[in-house]
Amino acid sequence: MSVLKIDWDRLAEAAKAASERAYCPYSKFRVGAALLTQDGRLYTGCNVENASYGLTICAERNTVFHAVAQGMAAVSCLLVYTPTEKPAAPCGACRQVLNEFGPDAEIRCVCDGPQTIELKMSDLLPKAFGPANLSE
Ligand code: THU
Repeated sequence: MSVLKIDWDRLAEAAKAASERAYCPYSKFRVGAALLTQDGRLYTGCNVENASYGLTICAERNTVFHAVAQGMAAVSCLLVYTPTEKPAAPCGACRQVLNEFGPDAEIRCVCDGPQTIELKMSDLLPKAFGPANLSE
């Protein structure tokens, strides 16, 4: 349960700004993400593509890796923004990475339309394989 009320508007603004920095000359599909750590720090990221397509990193994973590199222990919530009419949920690889650092995180996906996706990490990746499986 989150103790503090999440400022989703602040996260949306940060994710939107991050999406403008997306490097996506191949897909032209911009994605921005913003997360809050359990100690209240904000990190952002965007998708970064590569001429060797498979090396592309999604906005969500880029954001988590950025936060980990700065010392983050756990994700409290993450918002994904796409400049589309309908919201887009994180891909499977990003769900797995998010689960590692925020199994109880709240996730919100927003876009330029009125629709949003709002759910818990456990709904996004039920019965996840995670760190606990390795310490049995
Ligand atoms: N992408 C993300 O950034 N996040 C996702 O969850 C799905 C896909 C990016 C990767 C690629 O640069 C572009 O969107 C098209 O797949």
